[in-house]
Amino acid sequence: MAFNIAVAGKGGVGKTSLTGMLIEYLVAEGLGPILAVDADANANLNEVLGEEVDLSIGEIKEEVNHAEMNGIPLSPGVTKADFLQLRLNQAVAEGNGYDLLVMGRSQGAGCYCYVNGILKNQLDILAKNYQYIIVDNEAGMEHLSRGTLGKIDMLILVSDCSRRGIQAVGRIKELVAELNLKVPVIKLIVNRAPDGVLNEGTAEEIKKQDLDLIGVVPLDQNVFEFDAYGKPLVQLPADSPAKMALRDIVDKLEIIKNSKK
Ligand SMILES: Nc1ncnc2c1ncn2[C@@H]1O[C@H](COP(=O)(O)OP(=O)(O)O)[C@@H](O)[C@H]1O
Ligand SMILES: [Mg+2]
Repeated sequence: MAFNIAVAGKGGVGKTSLTGMLIEYLVAEGLGPILAVDADANANLNEVLGEEVDLSIGEIKEEVNHAEMNGIPLSPGVTKADFLQLRLNQAVAEGNGYDLLVMGRSQGAGCYCYVNGILKNQLDILAKNYQYIIVDNEAGMEHLSRGTLGKIDMLILVSDCSRRGIQAVGRIKELVAELNLKVPVIKLIVNRAPDGVLNEGTAEEIKKQDLDLIGVVPLDQNVFEFDAYGKPLVQLPADSPAKMALRDIVDKLEIIKNSKK
């Protein structure tokens, strides 16, 4: 059974950047096979990783629903389930030491229940091929609340230094409890801290929200610049402050040890 790591937090706090660096580090450590999942409707994990993705789950759903509503056969002699299976396999992009799947969005009219049902099954089967699944979530936590991605073994909450960022992850933690998701490990990373230092107000709010802080990632001008020029963060030197801080944090997360429990 794959070990599922979910990354969550308010929009713009650095989830995707940290997820990308996390994947890069786990690959470098020889962990695998890894499936990276971009569960943000506004998909951009591939950019951080420097990968091209041609097909998303959302697009597949659109295809099937479009055909359904217009009475067009999907493909001669192929059942809907087989078609979905084929397209799902095509949607899995091969990265450097990991695979990448983009959930994307589907906005067409009509009901997606049937497609969602089959896809859920097929995603469960696909997941069995991997030892680690790392999901970059969207701020709205739609996939978390719908249970699209199954169980979560480790939840990494990301916040910036703002009170609102901490409150947002506090709410996610509450949501997890309300949904009775039983996540064994929930840790907080504070990202983009000026000089890597947590200010007192933020520390207070973390306590108030009863969050377990595992580390602080500094504001790193390079990260920002790479993003601004559309350069993948995997090309950022290993001694960049943000990368070094994240590496320490990942070591403290003891992912291998936790996944063997
Ligand atoms: N440690 C950091 N130092 C400087 N800029 C950062 C850092 N982490 C993220 N950023 C920048 O913050 C912005 C939002 O990051 P992103 O990872 O897209 O957030 P999210 O996925 O939470 O919406 C991007 O411009 C990114 O380059
Ligand atoms: Mg993001």
